[in-house]
Amino acid sequence: MRRYEVQDSFGLDNLRLVEAPVPAVGPGQVRLQVRACCLNYRDQLMVRGHYDPRLPLPFVPLSDGVGEVVELGAGVSRVALGDRVCATFAPTWIAGEPDPSAVRLTRGGVVSGMLSEQVVLGEQELVPVPDHLSDVEAATLPCAALTAWSALVTYGGVKAGDVVLTLGSGGVSVFALQLARLLGARVIATTSSAAKAERLLALGAEAVVRYDEDPRWGTAVRQLTGGVDHVVEVGGAGTLAQSLEAVRPGGTVSLIGVLAGVREPLSVLPVLMKQVRVQGILVGHRQGFEAMNRAIAAHQLRPAVDRVFPFTQARAAFEHLASGMHFGKVCLQVG
Ligand SMILES: NC(=O)c1ccc[n+]([C@@H]2O[C@H](COP(=O)([O-])OP(=O)(O)OC[C@H]3O[C@@H](n4cnc5c(N)ncnc54)[C@H](OP(=O)(O)O)[C@@H]3O)[C@@H](O)[C@H]2O)c1
Repeated sequence: MRRYEVQDSFGLDNLRLVEAPVPAVGPGQVRLQVRACCLNYRDQLMVRGHYDPRLPLPFVPLSDGVGEVVELGAGVSRVALGDRVCATFAPTWIAGEPDPSAVRLTRGGVVSGMLSEQVVLGEQELVPVPDHLSDVEAATLPCAALTAWSALVTYGGVKAGDVVLTLGSGGVSVFALQLARLLGARVIATTSSAAKAERLLALGAEAVVRYDEDPRWGTAVRQLTGGVDHVVEVGGAGTLAQSLEAVRPGGTVSLIGVLAGVREPLSVLPVLMKQVRVQGILVGHRQGFEAMNRAIAAHQLRPAVDRVFPFTQARAAFEHLASGMHFGKVCLQVG
């Protein structure tokens, strides 16, 4: 079987498709024939060595993938042959608060990733996917969708009638828009593109603000709404000040991403003067993934898939993601 490895040093030039031995299945484990994979912003940071420069090489990238169970080890009871399942992002995090292993042992880095024709995984790391989704659609769920769900539901308590602000049109933000609408919330979105603004409106955003045209987009959102209840913050240091402008007193900012940097001088005053709750999010646990899948199935939600590349063109998929031209998710069909 074949898989991709980042070999001697970091960088896309060192992402190689290699022959690897078919892994043996032990007790409590299953073999998956991987059907589709999906890329996240984190995966390109990982491949380039910007996420964890001390990560031992070689490693197999990608946290996200879906596969069919083709072999069961002794004692497996959570899944059956033929089931379509995703692997969880944090294999040891089943429910509740994260412990140190949950935040350290994550897939597509320290834990071997899904960019492979076959993988062997423990049965506790698996989540069956909704039947109505194609393989490619199902592959989008483990990181971006669950992150949005954790922000809005597990930690956010977003409810019908709340106003949610999403930033840009990447994987996490488009899922946040779709899930917030599913929950009955209103959504204001930002983007840097007129064409993407149309697509955000078509998915149910009630207004779109151009952050590239108005550096005070957070103030514009506050003037539009009176202050939002919840910000799904994927920009990080470069956008946090405007997100704090946009949020209402007593509202929540889910701190998720670093698209606009990790370090900036920042006044903490708006956080305390508006009594804002700032909640860090690290994807989420298996129980949250299962709850999200029930909601996705009940509402027949379809993930926004931008482009699908063949397995042999992983490099092109990474380059497309890096271009920022995508809307939603960039995926790979395997086999
Ligand atoms: N903490 C966690 O658990 C977790 C989980 C998943 C992702 N993340 C992080 O969340 C961020 C988003 O990840 P992703 O996979 O969704 O990324 P992505 O799909 O690559 O998102 C790219 C899009 O983000 C928008 N964007 C870029 N810079 C922006 C800015 N300054 N302000 C507003 N929007 C901006 C652009 O949208 P437009 O073209 O519409 O302008 C761009 O197309 C990343 O930093 C990632 O590492 C964290």
